[in-house]
Amino acid sequence: MTDKTNAVDLITGHRRMRRNRKADWTRRMVQENRLTVDDLIWPIFVVPGTGIIEPIDAMPGVNRMSIDKAVEAAKEAADLGIPALATFPNIDMSLRDETGSNSLVANNLINETTRAIKKAVPNIGVITDVALDPFTSHGHDGILRDGEIVNDETVAQIAGAAVLQADAGADIIAPSDMMDGRIGAIRQALDANGHQNVGIMSYATKFASAFYGPYREAIGTGGLLKSDKKTYYIDPSNGTEAIRDAALDVEEGADMLMVKPGLPYLDVCWRMKEAFGLPVFAYQVSGEYAQIKAAAANGWIDGERVMLETLLAFKRAGCDGILSYFAVDVARILARRS
Ligand code: PBG
Repeated sequence: MTDKTNAVDLITGHRRMRRNRKADWTRRMVQENRLTVDDLIWPIFVVPGTGIIEPIDAMPGVNRMSIDKAVEAAKEAADLGIPALATFPNIDMSLRDETGSNSLVANNLINETTRAIKKAVPNIGVITDVALDPFTSHGHDGILRDGEIVNDETVAQIAGAAVLQADAGADIIAPSDMMDGRIGAIRQALDANGHQNVGIMSYATKFASAFYGPYREAIGTGGLLKSDKKTYYIDPSNGTEAIRDAALDVEEGADMLMVKPGLPYLDVCWRMKEAFGLPVFAYQVSGEYAQIKAAAANGWIDGERVMLETLLAFKRAGCDGILSYFAVDVARILARRS
């Protein structure tokens, strides 16, 4: 028998990575990560009124919806198998003030949304953000006093708002404000009010990012925000500090952890999963969504393939799920494939 060894085999030592890539069936057989509908959490924006579906300029394909329309959307999402929604209210400007007092009104927009969705679509999870930014006249996540976002007073108010959100039927409270001690305070307040089964998904590592721009347009805080959020969000240069911050949330009783933004912070996702073993979620934020949409609209990238690739990348980085404005689009594509 003549030896068919090629020069390249001598170089590789007969190890060829491409053998496993040679056909669709081998590729499927060795695929390490898969995206499923169970990985998706769909963030939605809610406005007062009825019959409203209002496009958001910087987020093509995403709308602000009145509660009735949000309920219809929730039904569609549940039918597609999406496990949960994350709701964000765009409250009337006249209700916003220095302290975000509307967050402590039991029947405010976010709580009425939860009530309506849980009543009509009980099998979809509702995750509510408890930060104050939709409610403040300055767009900050906390109470502003003498130029400072005051930590402890904000935490007390957020804990109170979390109880009202749980009273309204929220399944998971997700504080995105980055105040110190908020997870422990929310856990204690929920438990004291009989909400032991309501979970906490901590926005554990939320970075002071420029990727939130379109979201601020969506909930009308963009024009309000003077300065920036650097005194409470994490510096994008600091991965180790992010893990330390998450560790405190774990000690205080977080059930799940989130990294936000998503794709530029995959290293943090991985470190967080390795460090704590808790469920880790990434938030593919508005700016990440807008980038993909804009490039696709210009014909510069294949939007659908890039969308699916980014979501798969989160899985590879150790995430258990992703909050994504693409959730419904992706769920439809996955349903067609199966
Ligand atoms: C604020 C909040 C932000 C987002 C959700 N809640 C960031 C901010 O405005 O500073 C961003 C979501 C997105 O960009 O998609 N608590």
